[in-house]
Amino acid sequence: MNVLVVTSEAAPFAKTGGLGDVLGALPRYLRKLGHDVRVFLPFYSSIDTKKGTFSPVGDPFPIVLGPHRYVVRIVTVDTHPGTFFVHCPELYARGSLYTNDLDEHRRFLVLGWAALIAAQHMRFAPDVLHCNDWQCGLLPLTLKVAFGWDRLFANTKTLLSIHNLNYQGVFPASTIGDTNLASSAHLFHQDQLHHPHGGRINYMLHGLLYAGIVSTVSPTYAREIQSEEHGAGLDPFLRARRSTVVGILNGVDYDEWSPEKDTLIPHRYSAADLSGKALDKEALVTALGLPYVPGVPVLGIVSRMASQKGFDLLGPILGNLLVKWGFQLAVLGSGESRLEQMFEGFRRRFPKQVGFYRGFSNPLAHLIEAGSDIFLMPSRYEPCGLNQMYSLRYGTVPIVHRTGGLADTVRPWNPYAANDAMDPRRAGNGFVFDHHDSRGLEWAIEMALGTFKHRPSWDRLVQNGMAEDFSWERQAALYVDLYQRIPG
Ligand code: ADP
Ligand code: GLC
Repeated sequence: MNVLVVTSEAAPFAKTGGLGDVLGALPRYLRKLGHDVRVFLPFYSSIDTKKGTFSPVGDPFPIVLGPHRYVVRIVTVDTHPGTFFVHCPELYARGSLYTNDLDEHRRFLVLGWAALIAAQHMRFAPDVLHCNDWQCGLLPLTLKVAFGWDRLFANTKTLLSIHNLNYQGVFPASTIGDTNLASSAHLFHQDQLHHPHGGRINYMLHGLLYAGIVSTVSPTYAREIQSEEHGAGLDPFLRARRSTVVGILNGVDYDEWSPEKDTLIPHRYSAADLSGKALDKEALVTALGLPYVPGVPVLGIVSRMASQKGFDLLGPILGNLLVKWGFQLAVLGSGESRLEQMFEGFRRRFPKQVGFYRGFSNPLAHLIEAGSDIFLMPSRYEPCGLNQMYSLRYGTVPIVHRTGGLADTVRPWNPYAANDAMDPRRAGNGFVFDHHDSRGLEWAIEMALGTFKHRPSWDRLVQNGMAEDFSWERQAALYVDLYQRIPG
């Protein structure tokens, strides 16, 4: 199949979170299955141009969005065939991937238009246009209305993958001219467009209305977003099309994320020989300026600091837990300042126990996965989550809230099954709490720390986690299956 993928992130070029990992890996695994997959993303100024030799494809061309005119150039890179960048410094030379600037909608409209025009230039007839998140929300409608005349797209079906329903891309109705779809304004959601208190256009919603299939990144999240609690206001639309809403769990790129192959950690190790893990733990603790004391458990966090991730639950309990149990905590992340300040506060109060690196660091993310004993992910909601799956592979036992992809990947520790010689996997691979409050999290942390002291149980947990297989090989095949089922 020919697949045209449009995304705002793809590792190793542009990544703020899991979207980058997924779009860096899935297309590669689809290509391994024999498909022609072409990925389009913006040429952000932050892209490391040492990652290959970048060269232009074809001539620059203009994209006119209402009164705004841009000239874009398609660029490719020799190290990643099939990856195409939309070069337009006026839009993408900013301090961050995402902005609150007034032209934010146009930054991603241009991305979609450029991908479709580039497909025309390349005579690339996609069987599937694979859209991701709100940034591609208007793309299925754009394809129908503005590119429907071109027979190149006669067989193009559309898929919208939701990686996070809470980011919807909502812009004033007055920007409809920028979409070039104003003459089809009747195809927009009318109540919202003409809302008396200020009309608006919700990009994610229009993706839900017009994509052939809507997918999301775990089966549980696919169900959850059809409920009022997790639907972020869009649940009625998802319920209305429930037979075409599916969940496919993200995969893990084990070439990047496994302790046997990881080139970013000082000591490699495997399930059969964990001695390297102990050395990585020492390296981690030392790197964060903490004293290394063998036997002291290390808890790890690698995360965007957003309310989604649930770290506010730690506020009332972490101090007491640190005193009572004496563990160490390694935190990496940045985002909302109240959360950064909370971790900074704990670091000051417990300088020998808490290390906090505020920022983004891929090598440190790998070292925390390898060097920690326990990984914390108390997410309020989590469409899939990758770090808990990485943790499992690194023998780092995850503590998670039972939600979304966390519920689909972490199976609660069951001591009664630990000695089941027939099926040791039944004992579980982590700790799961149900009630999203501080007491729920505290219960799970204490349960984990208690179990950590009992070596045979802990070994069972570590081995069960390391034996899990969430590889992209399997998940990519599910996407192929889905591509083939998209209604016209
Ligand atoms: P989300 O996409 O919601 O942020 P995921 O668990 O799916 O959550 O993916 C997060 C990805 O981003 C992981 O690869 C994680 O290692 C990475 N990551 C998050 N914060 C940082 C950070 N501060 N430094 C390095 N990597 C980070
Ligand atoms: C989003 C979600 C995360 C998911 C990632 C990749 O950022 O928050 O749960 O793993 O997308 O799909």
